[in-house]
Amino acid sequence: MVKLMPKITVQLEDRSYPIVIENGLLDAVGARCASLGFVGQAVVVTNPVVSALCAKRVMASLKRTGFAPFIITLPDGERYKTLKTVSSVYDALVKRRVERRTPIIALGGGVIGDMAGFVAATYLRGVPYIQVPTTLLSQVDSSVGGKTGVNHPNGKNLIGAFYQPRAVFIDPETLDTLSEREFKAGLAEVIKYGVISDERFFNFLEKNAKTLAQRGLPLVKAIKRSCEIKAAVVASDERESGLRAILNFGHTFGHAIEATAGYGRIKHGEAVSIGMLLAARFSFKRGLCGAEAPERLEKLLLALGMKTHIPRLPVPALMRAMTLDKKVSAGRLRFVLTRGIGRVEVLQADAGEVEAFLRVITVNRGREP
Ligand SMILES: NC(=O)c1ccc[n+]([C@@H]2O[C@H](COP(=O)([O-])OP(=O)(O)OC[C@H]3O[C@@H](n4cnc5c(N)ncnc54)[C@H](O)[C@@H]3O)[C@@H](O)[C@H]2O)c1
Repeated sequence: MVKLMPKITVQLEDRSYPIVIENGLLDAVGARCASLGFVGQAVVVTNPVVSALCAKRVMASLKRTGFAPFIITLPDGERYKTLKTVSSVYDALVKRRVERRTPIIALGGGVIGDMAGFVAATYLRGVPYIQVPTTLLSQVDSSVGGKTGVNHPNGKNLIGAFYQPRAVFIDPETLDTLSEREFKAGLAEVIKYGVISDERFFNFLEKNAKTLAQRGLPLVKAIKRSCEIKAAVVASDERESGLRAILNFGHTFGHAIEATAGYGRIKHGEAVSIGMLLAARFSFKRGLCGAEAPERLEKLLLALGMKTHIPRLPVPALMRAMTLDKKVSAGRLRFVLTRGIGRVEVLQADAGEVEAFLRVITVNRGREP
């Protein structure tokens, strides 16, 4: 059994904040905001999909607790994660004369969270914001840690700021309506936490794979443990000058697959699950771990119905994407590699070595001979 802390806090001295995880929490957003000391106006930023599913309850709970909330609905999708959309939010805030102490409530997945957080970081040089994440990925990853921002036509998340929320309110029941594909995208990150820092958590995921895949009860525990791990990593390295980089396990290979396949053709979470497996196999190849690490990872991914096979993609294009993504220094790439389930390290690898590995692995479609 995975041991859970009674309460999760992201420890950042005077910017510390709680992560509250409770079924039905949508109906208590107002009371929770009031308990943080907020009064008066409140702004809910969301999109049409999440608005139809969740906004009524959040707005009602805010009104019940005496807030005067209003809602800003942004178009749905990664392609709208732009400065133009953010600018439309500034317009709405200025028009409503939103003041410095008014909280912005990000209600939605990572796209809404990243944009609402960036607005909060920049409007009036900073207003408070609260994350109410509604996708699994945002509940276990993007809502915690204060990375906010938007995309640039030349690349993802190129414009942004580190700006921590005042609280993260997670209602796992919101996941009931999430598509299978989006759910799996979040599961990839959950598994990542097991590999990077907690073998007992990985055992727990193995033991409960079947029920987890059906979004059964162990899911709440999986969300809690994921948040605890992310909170601990962020607390020890808020601005990614060291340890926080371990959260990128599987992402170097994953981003290369995503970029080479063409964004949208393969989902981020699918690319991450294939990427994690590649990273584990590469770790084994380099003698960092035994064969059982990639084997257990593959078995768990399969048990959860996740993708494990690398799509047929040209290796030179994958290498190009990887060198662009992580910046090569003197022909060497940076990778998060595993020394066995629960332990990872950031290491360098020669571009030639990575290319040779990918040539073997892509010919065999994900499996070494
Ligand atoms: N800030 C960070 O640390 C961090 C970390 C990882 C990812 N991200 C960012 O997060 C974004 C991806 O987030 P995401 O995966 O949540 O995608 P998303 O926000 O686009 O949400 C995915 C889809 O699910 C819908 N949706 C949201 N909640 C729903 C619900 N409860 N039921 C049904 N549908 C629902 C959304 O409308 C959307 O269509 C990317 O932009 C990525 O860059 C940020």
